[in-house]
Amino acid sequence: MDNRIVFLLFAIFSLFFVGVISAEAFSAEGSEVDPLIRQVTDRQDGAVPHLLTEEHHFSLFKKRFKKIYRSQEEHDHRFRIFKANLKRAERHQKLDPSATHGVTQFSDLTPSEFRRTYLGLRRLRLPKDANEAPVLPTDNLPEDFDWREKGAVTPVKNQGTCGSCWSFSTTGALEGANFLATGKLESLSEQQLVDCDHECDPEEAGSCDSGCNGGLMNSAFEYTLKAGGLMREEDYPYTGTDRGTCKFDKSKIAAKVANFSVVSLDEDQIAANLVKNGPLAVAINAVFMQTYMKGVSCPYICSKRLDHGVLLVGYGSAGYAPVRMKEKPYWIIKNSWGENWGENGFYKICRGRNICGVDSMVSTVAAVNTNSQ
Ligand SMILES: *[C@@H]1O[C@H](CO)[C@@H](O)[C@H](O)[C@H]1NC(C)=O
Repeated sequence: MDNRIVFLLFAIFSLFFVGVISAEAFSAEGSEVDPLIRQVTDRQDGAVPHLLTEEHHFSLFKKRFKKIYRSQEEHDHRFRIFKANLKRAERHQKLDPSATHGVTQFSDLTPSEFRRTYLGLRRLRLPKDANEAPVLPTDNLPEDFDWREKGAVTPVKNQGTCGSCWSFSTTGALEGANFLATGKLESLSEQQLVDCDHECDPEEAGSCDSGCNGGLMNSAFEYTLKAGGLMREEDYPYTGTDRGTCKFDKSKIAAKVANFSVVSLDEDQIAANLVKNGPLAVAINAVFMQTYMKGVSCPYICSKRLDHGVLLVGYGSAGYAPVRMKEKPYWIIKNSWGENWGENGFYKICRGRNICGVDSMVSTVAAVNTNSQ
């Protein structure tokens, strides 16, 4: 290509970036909502895709997610945040064109409220029993792979207003490993982890798994290994609060950890471990997930500061026509915000560049075959 054309393209591209980034950094209140985001939100609400006012959007939102505010002040406060989030979704849409961003159940929360209430990953360090996963062969990996089709994934759960994401990521990985070891899919107890797992990092004061205030999947595997295992969901149901005492009953253990390992920051190794060992516990930066509705999330820029624990259940490329670069397949992620969030509770994020840190903290767990015991 002619150098001048390359330069011109580069200049246009840079201008676009600066525009988008400065919009993200200095969001101006009071400007009009982009027609795109109106369309997006209208369609989701099932209404005719005509232009809606912010008031109308907000009343649809309240109805759809059954939001009730205690006072007029609270209502007005939430409406201001909602308007700011409409603009945020619009910016996310520009930064992440292969996904659809818009109104979600989190649209009346500020980003920091959202982080505090629905995420819950504490500082990352490795507990001493974590091995490094052995390097696996990566030739002959299937093109597409999905543990949901093989019966290794329980239905999507909902952590509620509790920063216990880490416990759902942990149970999801052990549910899959237990299925592979025993042939049975058992839904496992997050509440046991929330109430009983206070595993601490001996080298890091104050860094312990702490229920709704956050935790870490590797520490939770460590706890499960030491405690003997996890009970069934139905025997120790989820309450979404951490004011309860530990009600762990050793005689009702449904799944046991044999060992757990950390997978290297290599997408082929991650895929190979997924296929061989079952769904993987992964950490991610969830900033784009507050406004995500569907599609493959592949933002131009996303922080790698990990703040959310989720479950990697598969990968694929079907139905994804990327707007730039060459064909890039995606990871399929099971989240813990109920089935009304994202694609029936799932998230797709593109592979290839450690987007939002999704490749940085991956763990695999093996379960004991309890059939023979
Ligand atoms: C983990 O446990 C499984 C099942 O018992 C075993 O096959 C595997 O070799 C173990 N892996 C490591 C790294 O110890």
